[in-house]
Amino acid sequence: MIKQNSPASPPGTGRTQADPLAEFNPFPGHERLVNSSADPEARNRAVTTVDQAARGVADQTVAATGANGSRFVRACLRQPVDRTPVWFLRQAGRYMPEYMAVRKHHSLLDICRTPDIAAEVTITAAERLGVDAAIIFADLLLPLTPMGLDFEFLVNEGPRIHTPLRTAEQARNLRTDRTAELSYVARGIEKVSSYFADRPRTEARHPSPDTLGIIGFCGAPFTLASYMIEGGSSRNYIETKKLMYDSPRNSSGVVGADVLSQAPGVDAWSILMEKLVTVLTEYAGQQVQAGADVIQVFDSWVGALSPSDYRDYALAPTTRLIRNIQAMGVPVIYFGVETSSLLPLMRQTGCDVLGLDWRTPIERTWRELDYGVSIQGNLDPITLFAPEPVIELRVAEVLAAAGGRPGHIFNLGHGIVPGTPVESVLQVVRQLKQF
Ligand code: CP3
Repeated sequence: MIKQNSPASPPGTGRTQADPLAEFNPFPGHERLVNSSADPEARNRAVTTVDQAARGVADQTVAATGANGSRFVRACLRQPVDRTPVWFLRQAGRYMPEYMAVRKHHSLLDICRTPDIAAEVTITAAERLGVDAAIIFADLLLPLTPMGLDFEFLVNEGPRIHTPLRTAEQARNLRTDRTAELSYVARGIEKVSSYFADRPRTEARHPSPDTLGIIGFCGAPFTLASYMIEGGSSRNYIETKKLMYDSPRNSSGVVGADVLSQAPGVDAWSILMEKLVTVLTEYAGQQVQAGADVIQVFDSWVGALSPSDYRDYALAPTTRLIRNIQAMGVPVIYFGVETSSLLPLMRQTGCDVLGLDWRTPIERTWRELDYGVSIQGNLDPITLFAPEPVIELRVAEVLAAAGGRPGHIFNLGHGIVPGTPVESVLQVVRQLKQF
């Protein structure tokens, strides 16, 4: 049975709370059944004030404390949990024989675009590992297609965008009206959600039933823009930064809503940011409506920016995206790599959870953030190649650094890499479950 979101089963693992979308529908043409009288101004109000963000958190709190709550969602909201929840970035990937068996018959994009297969890969990884959350199998770059940029994955090279975006004219030509074409991801989430809805799990040491959290995801404006502009992966982001620096700045040096409202569509970067926020909001909304409990926003490469550049060129659009998603009633995890110097600014987006890589010490960082946000991370993924006692020690150190505070989600500092022994991943999960 496909789970329908309704007042009795809205997004969020709580699935029993009042409809958090009752006043909000940013997706024309995707009306929720209960939302036919949506206030067209609600979106603007929902993304503007800290007060409203706080109210959103209160709504989420109701969601996560429902009878069917999950420890993963509770941890996202800094609520107490019986043990630290755990999942892994790239938990369904090439290190796993079950994934490779599917890959033998299907390309990466075929898997992403076929809801049955994407759901199967998602479910298999989550069950095989016994983790607390399943992340929908998809790729960061999928939204490029309906926006009008073709790409492919080249063997051993990664993504290649055929005509990289370099001009304001190209940015103006990007489409924002075809995001519905991405609904195959939402269909996959519906399948995953309905599969796990009837399977609350218990553990010998943690006997209260717990529902697996379902994570949807999208790229952050900067990281997605970097692929569109560079045409693939990059070392120095020269083309991206050139486009960024060509953008006008207002008197306080901040590019964003203010500048855009005065001079909409003047430069490539501003147009691109605006369009990405529009498309990614709708895309994330499809995933929330389909049953995603949490959305992770991947800003994997934002660590390439200085704090000043992050503040001036990335903070505003990212904040708008994150607030838009939160206004739909789900917590947002905001993740990047090599972000130590950016974390205070990244927190200003209002995200619920910050993902840390392994170079960032949890203990000091969390204290400096006044424990005001949840933390996800941060074992070095390459530690999984170490002997058992080393892994055990490093996992214990991550847990000790988090100090048992509410709001820690155990994860790696970045994705599991090909060649990682599955047994090492399982060992980490066992260790987490012993606490
Ligand atoms: O289990 C999961 O984590 C879900 C699967 C997932 C994929 N991509 C599938 C995938 C997720 C969460 C992503 C997100 C993604 N895609 C990111 C952000 C995550 C991060 O690592 O920071 C990025 C940067 C991309 C873009 C992308 N996709 C690149 C650069 C590559 C090639 C690099 C590589 O590892 O080969 C991909 C390919 C890709 N996407 C793979 C998988 C499992 C591996 C290739 C394959 O199976 O053929």
